[in-house]
Amino acid sequence: MATKTLSSTCFLTLTFLLLFLVTGHQALNSAPYPVVVSTWPFVEAVRAAWRAVDNGLSAVDAVVEGCSACEELRCDGTVGPGGSPDENGETTIDALVMDGVTMEVGAVAAMRYVKDGIKAARLVMQHTEHTLLVGEQASVFAISMGLPGPTNLSSSESMEKWIKWKENHCQPNFWKDVVPKGGCGPYHAKDFVGLYDETCSNTTPVGNIRSSSHIGLHNHDTISMAVIDTMGHIAVGTSTNGATFKIPGRVGDGPIAGSSSYADDEVGGCGATGDGDIMMRFLPCYQVVESMRLGMEPKLAAKDAISRIARKFPDFVGAVFAINKNGVHAGACHGWTFQYSVRNPDMDDVKVYTVLP
Ligand SMILES: *[C@@H]1O[C@H](CO)[C@@H](O)[C@H](O)[C@H]1NC(C)=O
Repeated sequence: MATKTLSSTCFLTLTFLLLFLVTGHQALNSAPYPVVVSTWPFVEAVRAAWRAVDNGLSAVDAVVEGCSACEELRCDGTVGPGGSPDENGETTIDALVMDGVTMEVGAVAAMRYVKDGIKAARLVMQHTEHTLLVGEQASVFAISMGLPGPTNLSSSESMEKWIKWKENHCQPNFWKDVVPKGGCGPYHAKDFVGLYDETCSNTTPVGNIRSSSHIGLHNHDTISMAVIDTMGHIAVGTSTNGATFKIPGRVGDGPIAGSSSYADDEVGGCGATGDGDIMMRFLPCYQVVESMRLGMEPKLAAKDAISRIARKFPDFVGAVFAINKNGVHAGACHGWTFQYSVRNPDMDDVKVYTVLP
């Protein structure tokens, strides 16, 4: 009797051990890491990040590799140099990188004459105790830390675009409630009665009313990327050259942690794209990660973050992707069809997912 009990106990233990080994092995096979997720079908950028992380580089370094690839390729003309001229025809760069392990962030905004946005952001994170450097001083910092420059960030395409816009009386633009002296400004607040001529204001095009209208459907505007490395650590990054024909000095959501991207090693990450002037008021990526922390699935967390903005700005155009620590990813969008790209160990190459509003 005792022997029988012992042997059945042994059998049970062995069965459990076998089961454990089998399921453990399966879990290993379908390990979600490493994984790369990016806004838009920026396939080459995802491949670059994948190569880096698959070769054992950290999530931070892989994000930098991926976003750098987009800057070099000038993904859609709206990342890196040579795109999105401001009202003066100048291209400037905004970028951010965030380490989800340490919650360190490095960012540059309105950086002139230096094309390597994401690398400059990493230098801020790794070699300063600051989070965000801006404008000309960010350029001086980046160059002093070894990045190439000063470089002319304009291209023949961006100059051509800008000249056409000038010829079209500087329309569309980002002004509201103003009266320009002449077609393109200088602009004056309407309240300053007497500073402008009524008859003139009726014939001259003035500020645009809705800013979202210029975040065009073909203007894919921003790369935001998340990488989970083989250690299970997460990092995110963003790079953009901002809104086309922006008022000089404008900084959007790109270099704002929690808005364009956000990551916490304990939870997961998020990347955003769209009308940054509106999105940065809602910190959608912070919202996504915090919702996932409270137990929401990525899909619901992404939808919730977008619908919070849409309730207040029904015309806004934007999207987010979310990824949790199990490698589960999802996207949500408003006002346009969104695509995001993924590469994980189950895939032979980058896969592009389409999300409808
Ligand atoms: C920068 O490059 C653009 C396009 O090639 C050119 O039109 C512009 O004159 C250049 N600016 C300077 C300051 O060299």
